Amino acid sequence: MSHASADDYRPGLEGVIASETAIANIEGADGAGGLEYRGYRIEDLAGHVSYEQTAFLLLHGELPNRQQLREFDARLRQARPIPEALVELYQRIPKSIHPMDVLRSSVSVLAHFDPDANAAPTDHAANVRKAERMIAQMATAVAARRRISQGLPLVAPRADLDHAANFLYMVHDKVPSEAMRAAFDLSLVLYTEHELNASTFAARVTVSTLSDIYSGIVSAIGTLKGPLHGGANEEAWKVLERVGSPENAEKWIQDALARKQRIMGFGHRVYKTGDPRATILKTHCRALAQEVGDDRWERIAEPIEQAVTSQKMLPPNVDWPSARLYHYMGLEIELYTPIFALARVAGWAAHVIEQLDHNRLMRPRARYIGPPHRPVKPIDQR
Ligand code: SDX
Repeated sequence: MSHASADDYRPGLEGVIASETAIANIEGADGAGGLEYRGYRIEDLAGHVSYEQTAFLLLHGELPNRQQLREFDARLRQARPIPEALVELYQRIPKSIHPMDVLRSSVSVLAHFDPDANAAPTDHAANVRKAERMIAQMATAVAARRRISQGLPLVAPRADLDHAANFLYMVHDKVPSEAMRAAFDLSLVLYTEHELNASTFAARVTVSTLSDIYSGIVSAIGTLKGPLHGGANEEAWKVLERVGSPENAEKWIQDALARKQRIMGFGHRVYKTGDPRATILKTHCRALAQEVGDDRWERIAEPIEQAVTSQKMLPPNVDWPSARLYHYMGLEIELYTPIFALARVAGWAAHVIEQLDHNRLMRPRARYIGPPHRPVKPIDQR
C-alpha cells in the first residue's frame, strides 16, 4: 500500500490535479487565468451561441451544425414536461423549504421516471439521453415548485420558446423581453461549466464508484448549495441590500472585513486577478438596469467593488453581477442558486460522462493526526 507522505497534503486539495479533462480549461491561453469550453474562449462564445448550443458542445464535444441543433433542441423541448408525481410532491413539501433542497429531491424523483432508469451506469448513449432530459426537466421543476410555493397556478412549458425564454415564461407566466431573454441565456452560458469546481468534483467522485449519473448530479446539487460555492449569488444580493446606499459601501466593507467576514461574490480559488465571467455580466447588468429604469443597485455595487478590491485585493466573481441580473429579471433571490444548477447541469453531466468513459475510482488518502496506538481498557477501568 502506498504511504502518502505528509508533504503531499494540500488543504482543500488546493492546486492538486485530480482529473484530466477535455471539457474546460480555466488556465486561459497564456496561463494567467481565463475560461475556455472545449477550446472556445468564453468571450467568443458569450453573446454568440445559445445555452442550447453550449450544452451540445459540452455533451458532444463540438458546436452543433444547424441540423444537429434543430434535433437537439427538439429533444429538449419534447422532454420538458415533468411527472405528475413530482408536482404532487411539490404540493406536499412545506413552502418554507429552500428551492435548492427541493431541487436535490426533484432530481432523485426524476431518476425514477427516466425511461433509461435501468440502463448500465456506463452506458454512454443512455447517459447523454439522461443528461438531455435533466437539462430540460430541471428548468420545468424549479419553475413549477416556485409557482406552487407562491400559491400560483402552474404554467406549462411552451414548445415555441427557447430554453431561456421558456424558463422565465414558466416562472412569470409572461414571455420575457428580448433583452431579458438574451441576458438570461448569456448567464446560463457563463454558468454552464467551470472545470473541477467543488460540485463538479463531487459528481465525478460519486460516479467514480460506478454509481449512476443521477446520483452524481444529486451530489453536485448538494455541494453547489453551500455559500462558498453556488450559494454565493443569493448571499451576494444580501450584501447589496445590507449596504443599502453608495455612501455606506466603504465603511460597511471595512467593518465586515474587520470582523473577518467573507464578502460574498468576491474572491476565487483559481482566478486571483479577476473572473472573466463577472466582467462580461457587468455590462449586461447596466443594460438591464436601464431597461427596468432603476440604476440604484449598480450605484451601490460599484463602490463595494472598489472597497473590496482596494482593501482586500479581491476581484468580483461570477456570482457578484449575476445576483443583480436576476433581480432585474424579477426573480426571487431563492431562485438564484437553483438557476446556477439549471445551467451547470450540462457541465456536471459532461464531466460525469467523461469520468465514466475513462474511470478510475477516486480514493485519496488522509494524514492521520489522532491519538497514537493504545490498548483497549475494560469498561470499569475507563
Ligand atoms: C463559485 O471553484 C469554482 O470554479 C467555483 C465557481 C464555479 O463556476 O464553479 O467559480 C463558482 O463558487 C465562485 C465563488 C463563490 N463564492 C463566494 O463568492 C464566497 C466568498 N468567497 C470566498 O469564500 C473565497 O474567495 C473562495 C471560497 C471563493 C475561495 O477562497 P480560497 O481560495 O479558499 O481562499 P481562502 O479562503 O484561503 O482565503 C485567502 C484569504 C483569506 O484571508 P487571510 O485569512 O489569509 O487573511 O483571502 C480572504 C480569506 O479570509 N478571502 C476573503 C474572501 N475570499 C477570500 N475575505 C473576504 N471576503 C472574501 N470573499
